Amino acid sequence: MAAVPWTYEDIHIALEAIRGGPGGVVAAQTAAKATGRPGLTRQALSRAFRRACDRGWISERLSDITYRPPPPTTDTGGKTTLTKTPSTKTTEADDRLVPHLDVVRAVQGGARTLIDLANALDCSPKSAQQRADAAIEAGHTIALNDAGELVFELPRPETHVIPDVPRDGDWTKIAVISDLHVGSKHCFEQEIGTFVTEAHSRGYTSILIPGDLCEGNLRHHGFEYEVKAFGFDAQLQLLLQTLPELPGLTYHFCVGNHEVNSWWKSIGLRPDIAIERHAHANGRTDLLASGAMLPNMESAYLLLNPGDPETEIKVELSHTGDKKAYAMSYPLQKHVEAYLPGSKPHLLLKGHLHCWTAHDIRGVVCVQTACFKGQGAWERSKNMEPTNGGTLIDLKHEGRYFDFRVEPRFARPAPLVWTPIEG
Ligand SMILES: [Fe+2]
Ligand SMILES: [Fe+2]
Repeated sequence: MAAVPWTYEDIHIALEAIRGGPGGVVAAQTAAKATGRPGLTRQALSRAFRRACDRGWISERLSDITYRPPPPTTDTGGKTTLTKTPSTKTTEADDRLVPHLDVVRAVQGGARTLIDLANALDCSPKSAQQRADAAIEAGHTIALNDAGELVFELPRPETHVIPDVPRDGDWTKIAVISDLHVGSKHCFEQEIGTFVTEAHSRGYTSILIPGDLCEGNLRHHGFEYEVKAFGFDAQLQLLLQTLPELPGLTYHFCVGNHEVNSWWKSIGLRPDIAIERHAHANGRTDLLASGAMLPNMESAYLLLNPGDPETEIKVELSHTGDKKAYAMSYPLQKHVEAYLPGSKPHLLLKGHLHCWTAHDIRGVVCVQTACFKGQGAWERSKNMEPTNGGTLIDLKHEGRYFDFRVEPRFARPAPLVWTPIEG
């Protein structure tokens, strides 16, 4: 027998049951009754929640769900049972919770003229145009093709130019912070502020970030217990509070797997553009999305102080999904080996692995950036020990030489206190 598809209304009822019930089994029984799913198990309920995350129902607008009035209840002999509200069309429920998702889905199905889109959305062409414009403005990758049709467009690589990177004599000065994971309970928010403020006071006003600014809503087992801000809006607000706004200071970032898997692959929101626009809407023009974001390739290409080959510096910000190796330099070596002829940058800044090391490999200065996320339960279960902190980097061309100085500023986790159990 085919499984009954979960609607938003069902998920809402199940969420209320979980909040109100003393345990998963009771929640599953209550949700089973209210949604008409006899024999609903805890595991099946958990799977339904993960699918709801994929559709953006929970992760994107959890706050909306929190503040919505609970559905009507009926009293059945002393037991309170949740009652299913009249069902609504799935697309309407989606649209209410994830703005523009209906437009994205319509365009993901293939190239659409405005009339096609109006038919798909069951609205007037003028209204369809307005809704498409709003989706584009929000960061969804919808564009007009040469035939005047709306298409779901994958972004193309592009080079991000930073013309005014500070220099001290011949040295170009940049600072790097990576893998902030804002929204996680283990994010070192205070240390991010301390590092950026110190860098700024020492004249480093270009901060580069190779990905994982936010924790997102990855669905590994138990992720909901490791996050303190749920959804894009809440995590972005926290990110803006965490990154200090200082005179002349700018942040240049690419996104990482946490943003891409949480928002791009589930609901088609291009997170780099969305982060930049969200920051702008909150009066912050110092957060700048840098370059490319292709599926499975979270990297950006930067050109610092362009115009003079003697001083300009090519940088790759990379957040490719490497695995840790026995030798810490191995992912950097393999990354440099894979450069096509003529495409090597001067500097490779590689995030994602949450460890720190620096090498000169085949003429590329490689820095495996550290992170600002402490060891959570997931990392501990994988025997992963993160290195926390940021890096100050000076770079200089000198004839055939390309010199560099790196100064890591490590933050140490608070020592574990061994407290005797009394009694
Ligand atoms: Fe990370
Ligand atoms: Fe990552």
